[in-house]
Amino acid sequence: MSIKLSSGKEIPIEMHKTRMVQKIWLPPIEERLKAIEEAGYNTFQLKTKDIFLDMLTDSGVNAMSDNQYAAMMRVDDAYAGSMTFYDFADAVKDVLGYNYVMNVHQGRAAEHLISKVFAKQGDVVPTNYHFTTTKVHIELTGGATCLEIYTDEALKTESTVLFKGNMDPKKLKDTIKKYGKERIAFVRMEATTNLLGGQPFSMQNLREIRQICNEHGLILVLDGSLISENAYLIKQREEGYEKKTVAEIVKEMCSLADIFYMSGRKNTCVRGGCIATNNKALFEKIQPWLPVYEGFFTYGGMSQREVAAMAVGMREMVDPDLADCAVEQIKYFVGRLKEIGLPVVTPPGGLACHLDAKRFLPHIPQSQYPAGALTAALYLASGIRSMERGTISMERDKDGKEVYADLELCRIALPRRVYTVSHIEYAVDRIHWLYEHRNLVKGLKFVFEPPVLRFFIGKLEALDNWGRAFAEAFKKEMGSY
Ligand code: F0G
Repeated sequence: MSIKLSSGKEIPIEMHKTRMVQKIWLPPIEERLKAIEEAGYNTFQLKTKDIFLDMLTDSGVNAMSDNQYAAMMRVDDAYAGSMTFYDFADAVKDVLGYNYVMNVHQGRAAEHLISKVFAKQGDVVPTNYHFTTTKVHIELTGGATCLEIYTDEALKTESTVLFKGNMDPKKLKDTIKKYGKERIAFVRMEATTNLLGGQPFSMQNLREIRQICNEHGLILVLDGSLISENAYLIKQREEGYEKKTVAEIVKEMCSLADIFYMSGRKNTCVRGGCIATNNKALFEKIQPWLPVYEGFFTYGGMSQREVAAMAVGMREMVDPDLADCAVEQIKYFVGRLKEIGLPVVTPPGGLACHLDAKRFLPHIPQSQYPAGALTAALYLASGIRSMERGTISMERDKDGKEVYADLELCRIALPRRVYTVSHIEYAVDRIHWLYEHRNLVKGLKFVFEPPVLRFFIGKLEALDNWGRAFAEAFKKEMGSY
């Protein structure tokens, strides 16, 4: 939650205390330069020994609760029929309202199975916005095409529209008319839409999309990897939901989807995932493939320890103190950057604070990857690891041509219950310094480019060796830190 100080200033306040810690350290600028050069200007390739604040992602790096750790000590490790799985299924029923569930090893495994079963060559999948792994599975596994059906406001990085994650219902109707319902594998809604900058959709929008799917007999798939934050933002922003609990809103969202899946690495704070539904026929189409690709029905590629922790995490993710902790920190972070006048995605959403690289570094063309350059420069200026979410995160088209991303974002994620307000203040200060020295930052060029999901292991080079000049300027003004 946030708390108002007597000065009138609002700050996010942690509703938990730290009882186990992990030491971190800030490497000096000379080491940061060496590390980013070795990493090929790709923050995925950095080692944590070279990182101060790891804000790459909120996936698999959240602080688990004491109750989750306790649950991991008492586990039924059976290969088949484990009672730990049935505890998890009870939690899914209670929290999400679904009768049928299967575990998978993480979110993209769910995307793989759903795309394999429901999508085929020539199909299309309309979505409020793709996620990297989702698109790859829809297109490579399913052979279908991912269609972005976002609203006109979605790509405006400076906005006051509260639900930029909405799907445009008119565009969806036009799409159905254009392709015919037979070619629509399923319709996909993503909660707290990741690549739009963690932007939520409204319940009203989800209900409208449900209605359209009903009219045409289409399957509605909900990616609920970030469902708690979307529910919390609905509570904060949507008329009629102020008095509802996060738990009630999550259940209502789930009641509108035919198939739900999630990466458990985010909201439930464990390494796993699941697919759930109330539709027995749909469940039975997916289920046979589970032991082929993931594992037996009662573990689905996860360790039973993580299944046990996920059962607890499922119940905890609707606790308002967990659902809001990243959102309130992000609101504070974005507010501080806006105060200074820095180009940041507004309104603040879930998952992360996103810098708009097109506005931050307008002198770098998209062909030279401004979001990648900003992400590398932020590491140099601060030791903070963030993530490129722009053209480097796109796939080339079938002819090998570059596909420019709609948005060029540097994503600074806030893992749940991990960092504090003073960490955010440090980040704000170094981003400000970086902005004032933005002309030192130039573009990047690939020197090694893998054929798929290139952002993970690709290596790049700083044009004109700008990293060195940047590090020298930093050292002259700031010293080693
Ligand atoms: N869907 C969404 C909305 C996600 O954000 C992610 C992962 C996935 C699916 C895939 O799940 O990683 O468990 O296989 N997002 C991570 C991130 C990787 O950093 O945003 P996964």
